[in-house]
Order: sequence, then C-alpha cells, then structure tokens
Amino acid sequence: VLTTAQRAAIQNNWATVNANMQEMGDALFMRYLLANPGDIQFFPKFASAGVGAQLRSNEAFQEQTLTVFQFLGQIVAKLNDLDAAGKMLQERVHSHKPRGITMSQFERLLDLLPRFLQENAGAHGPCADAWRVAIANLMPYMR
Ligand code: HEM
Repeated sequence: VLTTAQRAAIQNNWATVNANMQEMGDALFMRYLLANPGDIQFFPKFASAGVGAQLRSNEAFQEQTLTVFQFLGQIVAKLNDLDAAGKMLQERVHSHKPRGITMSQFERLLDLLPRFLQENAGAHGPCADAWRVAIANLMPYMR
C-alpha cells in the first residue's frame, strides 16, 4: 500500500511539475516516443511532424502532452483514494481502446515517470519509489 508519507512525497513533488507543466509533458512524451517511435502513428494530429526536435514546437503535440499531464495531476490529487484514482485511469484506458491503444502502452508511459521525475523535476529516490508503489496499485484498474 501507499503510505501517507509516500503520498505526500508524490504530491509535494508534483508542485514542481505544475510550475513547468508544458515543458514536463513535452519532455516525457519525447522520451516515450523516442523509445516507441512507431506510436506516433496513433496521433494523426501531429504524426507528420515525426519524432525529433521539431516535435517540441508542434502545437498539437503540446496540447496533447498538457492534456495528459493535467490528467495525471488529477490522479496525484486523488491518491488518498486509490480506488477513485484507479477508476479515473480505467475510464481513460476505455476511451483509448477504440484508437487501438492498450494497457501495455499506458504501462510503458507510466513506467517512465518515476525516473523521469527524478531527472527532470527534482524528485528524490523515495519519491520515485513512492510512484512505483502508486503505479503498481493503479495497474489492476487498467486491465
Ligand atoms: C487522448 C490521457 C497514454 C494516445 C487522451 C486524453 C487524455 C489522455 C485525458 C483526452 C481524453 C480522452 O480521449 O480520453 C492519457 C493518459 C495516459 C495516456 C493519462 C497514460 C498514463 C496514451 C498513450 C497513447 C495515447 C500511451 C499512444 C501511444 C492518445 C490519443 C488521444 C489521446 C491518440 C486522442 C488525441 C486526439 O486526437 O485528440 N489521452 N493518455 N495516450 N491519447 Fe492518451
């Protein structure tokens, strides 16, 4: 289970993300797409930009990454109620299914998050570990 201290670590660190959310979202998605370059095809609205430096200045890409990070912010705010947070994620998995996106893609994106926050948002080790626990708790809702 996620302890109160772990939840606090995640929520306190998220303030750093909030302060620079567009940049953070762009950077995480770049990391995701560099690791999974074929997945840009799921995004007709910016697929033609290609996975490269120019993607960062694409407005449709920026809009997408901000949407996802705002959603993640809602999850962070709800971590005191993992069941509610899990159900929110479950709804997103369902909304993605018709697009051919599966839980394994959600998992790959979320798997990048703990280390990403350490490297880009000043999260300390225990905070990254808290994220790993939170994600493990949320994963069953996405199946
Ligand atoms: C749209 C969240 C992962 C592809 C959205 C939306 C949200 C969202 C909130 C807009 C509302 C909706 O359609 O449900 C998330 C979260 C993710 C995630 C929280 C992971 C934790 C992914 C991944 C892909 C993806 C891994 C593809 C590889 C898309 C696409 C759209 C979308 C194609 C529609 C974009 C458009 O044309 O407007 N996502 N997403 N998502 N997402 Fe995700």
